[in-house]
Amino acid sequence: MKTLKEFLMDARQNHWATGHFNACELDQMRAIVEACKDVGSPAIIGASEGERKHLGMIEAVVLRDALAQEYGIPVFLNADHTKNVDAAKQAIDAGFDSIHIDLSAESFEQNVMGTKEIVAYGLAKNPEINIEGELGYLAGESKIQHEKIEINPEDYTKPKEAARFVEQTGVDRLAIAVGNIHGISLDEPDLDIERIAAIRSTVPEHVALVLHAASGIPDDQIRQAIDAGISNIHINTDLRIAFVSELKKSLAEHLDEAAMYKLDASAIEAMKKVVKEKLTLFEAINRV
Ligand code: G3H
Ligand code: ZN
Repeated sequence: MKTLKEFLMDARQNHWATGHFNACELDQMRAIVEACKDVGSPAIIGASEGERKHLGMIEAVVLRDALAQEYGIPVFLNADHTKNVDAAKQAIDAGFDSIHIDLSAESFEQNVMGTKEIVAYGLAKNPEINIEGELGYLAGESKIQHEKIEINPEDYTKPKEAARFVEQTGVDRLAIAVGNIHGISLDEPDLDIERIAAIRSTVPEHVALVLHAASGIPDDQIRQAIDAGISNIHINTDLRIAFVSELKKSLAEHLDEAAMYKLDASAIEAMKKVVKEKLTLFEAINRV
């Protein structure tokens, strides 16, 4: 079975992108894995600090193993947007395959120092661990934004800084800010594709570039981003909306129903549908 690093390299070399999907419940983890199994894609499940507090760290790791065994495909678990070193170490100790150490709100030097510490700590515990750092400022959160969010190109990731950051930290993946905003923004996003290509050309081949906040980005921009060098794409809000809006509908239509597993069945299907659509767009199908 390929490692996450090998899938990311395959994606980079063959112009597709791995999909990263967030979950906070077993039903959602299963929906992601089932959709990946159906289309033949590796499953990357992300859990942010809030999501994994709800899910449970040990539970997430055990469920990952159970789902990988049941569905027979690679399932990787990422500690998404981990904002401090201690929380990242806890996720490493719990057995996550991948850590996104997000110190992008700190100074460049502090970001390098903390990220480097997590790379060393992670490798000492698990030589196959995959560590993602983040550089540049990514606004928003995973919900529908009702107010306009101004993004300043000054906050975008700078190619030369990206090269220095990667060299000094030893990360496997780099999350970049190139006009993407977490959540569904009021205005249509306008990705800086040339900047993605510039970052790609300054960062070593073995480091994967990650596009966060991809909900609501038009399909043609996603394809251009992949062609410019993105090999991992994060989706959360589109899944949350698919799940919750279908659940609300189901609750309203079945007022006498008390079995949760019946009430959320259509929400799970809605989530699976989104995962499959995204994997098709990323050309991530038939890859395992
Ligand atoms: O890390 C998670 C992703 O960046 C999700 O962003 O909610 O805009 O899809 P999104
Ligand atoms: Zn993100």
